[in-house]
Amino acid sequence: MAAEHDAGHDAGHTVFPGDDYRRLHAESLADPERFWLGAAAAVDWIRPPSMAVDGSDAPLYRWFPGASLNTSYNALDRHVDAGRGDQPALVYDSAMLDTRRTLTYAELRDEVAVFAGVLARLGVTKGDRVLVYLPMIPEAAVAMLACARIGAVHSVVFGGFAPAELAARLRDARPSAIVTADGGIEPARRVEYLPAVQEALALADAAGTPVVVKARDGFGHGVAGYQEPGTRWLDWDEAVATAEAVPPVEVAATDPLYILYTSGTTGSPKGVVRDNGGHAVALTWSMRAIFDVGPGETMLTASDVGWVVGHSYIVYGPLLAGATTVLYEGKPVGTPDAGAFGRLIEQHRVKALFTAPTALRSIRRADPTGAAVRAHDLSSLQTLFSAGERLDTGTSQWIGDVLGVPVVDNWWQTETGWPICANPRGLGGVPLKAGSPSLASPGYDVVILDPGGSPVPAGSEGSIALRLPLPPGTLTTLWGSDDRYRDAYLADFEGFYTSGDSGYVDEDGYLFVMGRTDDVINVAGHRLSTGAIEQVIAQHPAVAECAVLGLQDPVKGQRASGYVVLKAGTDLDPATLEAELVAMVRSTIGPVADFRSAVVVEALPKTRSGKILRKTMRQMAAGTAYAVPSTIEDPSVLDALEPLLRPSTAG
Ligand code: COA
Ligand code: AMP
Repeated sequence: MAAEHDAGHDAGHTVFPGDDYRRLHAESLADPERFWLGAAAAVDWIRPPSMAVDGSDAPLYRWFPGASLNTSYNALDRHVDAGRGDQPALVYDSAMLDTRRTLTYAELRDEVAVFAGVLARLGVTKGDRVLVYLPMIPEAAVAMLACARIGAVHSVVFGGFAPAELAARLRDARPSAIVTADGGIEPARRVEYLPAVQEALALADAAGTPVVVKARDGFGHGVAGYQEPGTRWLDWDEAVATAEAVPPVEVAATDPLYILYTSGTTGSPKGVVRDNGGHAVALTWSMRAIFDVGPGETMLTASDVGWVVGHSYIVYGPLLAGATTVLYEGKPVGTPDAGAFGRLIEQHRVKALFTAPTALRSIRRADPTGAAVRAHDLSSLQTLFSAGERLDTGTSQWIGDVLGVPVVDNWWQTETGWPICANPRGLGGVPLKAGSPSLASPGYDVVILDPGGSPVPAGSEGSIALRLPLPPGTLTTLWGSDDRYRDAYLADFEGFYTSGDSGYVDEDGYLFVMGRTDDVINVAGHRLSTGAIEQVIAQHPAVAECAVLGLQDPVKGQRASGYVVLKAGTDLDPATLEAELVAMVRSTIGPVADFRSAVVVEALPKTRSGKILRKTMRQMAAGTAYAVPSTIEDPSVLDALEPLLRPSTAG
């Protein structure tokens, strides 16, 4: 099975010695079978693959048909079996509680196996869904891996979402169990999870779903107050005390490992489905080729397990690679100061740090010289990886100087699960270019298309599309709806996946991402749908119509701002209306929307058929050139809006 550049079984992390990125990339596209079967050799299979990609149902593709494995086995047991049971697998570092705890591979395997026993005893079995709503505590990784162990499909929901969002995911995934904790800790407050879970269960009409609750110090509520008739609340520690460890089960490579909901253009979130086999192969490959992290080395991904970056590079990637992952419960600033990442690098000898630009900008704002980070021993650090939103060159240069390491911007999405474009550090890297996430990763064929679907010349902006098939590890479909997957991603340009981003590729093949072409915005690295926020605002009795835009924000990248037309005859003071709308968005979507501004306007720009010209408004807000659409009903509406939307004055 070993191909010319076999990714190999060896524990080393210097991959493809002598290989050159461009040749590998070309080979990955010319002969994906050979390339990915070679990479698949780094994974332990129960039934090894004899075929890489199955295109019989194109444009839907399946990776490694006929093969079987267990992802939890690959992330845990195989390292223990290889004699590395005493190596640290997961270091939990809570700045919130000033706690540090290290779990070795053997210890993590044992915790996962026993918690898998808890789930099994609840009747959870292969293919069942389990909703995981946990803060950044080790139990989050344990719950995810326990699902993988028994072939259940986890769906992790970020703690900053409100009950209605949780309920939407419950309705769609219909889980057989929920795993949660009694709360999360934010710098200024404790976030109670159980009332949110209770409300979501009621909203989703799912009261009988068993809920396993990890009790945390400082909350002290436990499950006792929730035992109403028809509900099943269990205490994690009590359940674990009487459960038996279970072995990993065999699943097909094509079986789903997880669903991760993400924002689309409409209010209803899209459940991105990830398989087992392609995911294990791609993440193992990316850890070596892109992140250059292997056994005995430490990666700190300062994100959250509720996001794809957390799934891939807090939990699965580092563990599949046999490395040590740091699970950090804290913020980049204020817990206790802007030196937090420096402390973590020093104390855990971090080799690769991965975070979002907003975190870097917040450090820079709090500590413009970077002295607090520099006060620590940063000598272990070799690379800073940044993703989730556009990394501006000023921030990139600043943090590169502070840390004294290369800053590797990488561009990808919840849908793809691993970097589409990055600088492959494990392949020796390629020259960095300011403002670019570098080149397409092997397996990805990035093409810039004009609106008619024709490729544009180098340097011209267009839709960033990916030629099908996507490489392994990317989404296989949307949960419960192949049609929605086709419509949302595959229908715009035949034979291509549409990323929803626009950008250009320069003469050297470097990608420059300019922004979204749809109604998705990115606030502090959190992906949100303006359509979902609009749906909430439209519920207000005084609101006739509204549009929500992402305005530029110096720290958070973007922030949502609402433009509201009141119903005729409404007499409501704008400040009161704004406060009510802010409260509604917070309680319906969650604090993570960080929605703070709603402006009353006379009218919104519309076409003669009554469609709000959101794209034109977005262009005005972004300060980019725009043409007044010929279909506009009343151009004077744009003149009135312009001062409110102009980047320098908006908000
Ligand atoms: N549970 C509950 N509430 C949460 C939460 C969680 N897990 N995460 C954030 N929130 C809340 C915050 O407490 C805040 O609430 P507030 O309005 O009461 O203050 C609100 O959501 C907005 O949070 P955020 O946008 O994160 O702003 P912040 O000021 O708390 O922190 C940063 C700013 C830059 C430090 C923070 O956004 C950050 O670390 N971002 C990185 C994002 C990231 O890792 N993204 C993943 C992609 S790589
Ligand atoms: P998410 O699915 O939450 O990871 O968000 C994906 C979206 O975030 C992408 O479609 C981009 O719009 C944006 N994004 C992610 N990484 C980058 C990056 N490195 N540069 C620019 N935009 C990015």
